[in-house]
Amino acid sequence: MRYLFKCGTFFLLIYLLFSCAYHNEEELYGNEAINPCDTVTVTYTLDVLPVLQTTCYPCHNQAAASGGVILEGYNQAKAIAGSGRLLGAISHSPGFTPMPKDGAKLPSCDITKISRWIEAGMPEN
Ligand code: HEC
Repeated sequence: MRYLFKCGTFFLLIYLLFSCAYHNEEELYGNEAINPCDTVTVTYTLDVLPVLQTTCYPCHNQAAASGGVILEGYNQAKAIAGSGRLLGAISHSPGFTPMPKDGAKLPSCDITKISRWIEAGMPEN
């Protein structure tokens, strides 16, 4: 009986140890879930514009339109996006010059968000 009790305590400790480890793992995944790629609520102002501003405006603004492409301003961005050239360039599709020029490809989350925005009809939201 004493042995059984000791044994039980031992297994209880093991169980607690593992459940604790498991719990930590859950917390880890939980933290990752705080920053998922949210492609459901995509807006021009919060998702598309910041990417264009930081990575594209330097070469595609009103004053310096590399390749004749202006992305500064909603109407300009919408026109390029509507023509298919925006997505073609950032997704490095054949037939388009890969963008950002001489830079790293955008994070896939940004590309997905921009493509969702285009699919949604490029709303000015
Ligand atoms: C370092 C300057 C630079 C940056 C940064 C840059 N571009 Fe460009 N972009 C160019 C130049 C120069 C061209 C002209 C085409 C060429 O070089 O062949 C061009 C062309 C384009 C084209 C036309 C491509 C085609 O095949 O029709 C699009 C669309 C475009 N850029 C979008 C973007 C987007 C979107 C970004 C940001 C993610 C971006 N660019 C960042 C320099 C840049």
